[in-house]
Amino acid sequence: MGTEDKKQRAAREALKWLDDARLIGVGTGSTVNHFIDALRDLRGRLDGAVSSSVASTQRLKAMGIPVLDLNAAGALPVYVDGADEANSRLQLIKGGGGALTREKIVAAVSKRFICIVDDSKLVRVLGGFPLPVEVIPMARSHVARELVKLGGRPDWRRDFITDNGNHILDVHGLTILDPPALETEINQITGVVSVGIFARRPADVLLVGESTGVRTIRG
Ligand code: 5RP
Repeated sequence: MGTEDKKQRAAREALKWLDDARLIGVGTGSTVNHFIDALRDLRGRLDGAVSSSVASTQRLKAMGIPVLDLNAAGALPVYVDGADEANSRLQLIKGGGGALTREKIVAAVSKRFICIVDDSKLVRVLGGFPLPVEVIPMARSHVARELVKLGGRPDWRRDFITDNGNHILDVHGLTILDPPALETEINQITGVVSVGIFARRPADVLLVGESTGVRTIRG
């Protein structure tokens, strides 16, 4: 079974975790695209969604699902999103698609965060995937120098501007043994908008698409 099929399995399983929610948070990426496609059957039941990116907003609207401003929506019962890496404590690296800041905001206001991945994303130690850090453009070089001091090799994601008008540094070479501590440390660097470590607010449920089915890991 290929990776896309595994992503689709995890995405469909997430439907079972929505309970009777009428308003949901929706993340970004290819796995989430499968989830949005799977929402087709629930359209009539949903009042709408809060989206973490322009790309997901377009896909949701094309599906006929209203997209609400988070400031108007308030707290959300459930948020479904993918990840680039996940460990057994449900701590994540996210931001491969560059939507990490809005994803962090939606995760922060959601009661339950359901993370959907294929089994290639499960790791023992986070950091194999280059860690995305969203930065204010004028601070890019300063933040890069600070990240070098932390042992990383930052690489500017050229030709990419986030939905918030910022730049992304992808940090290679980190072995993240204490994800909450590194999340806090990188957040303190002046010019950082957000860091793609989701450890202070990890997922609550991880649905892992495998060739034999979907594994559920609870926090
Ligand atoms: C986007 C993200 C995505 O969740 C992450 O990159 C996973 O993407 P995919 O489902 O395409 O593998 O964090 O910012």
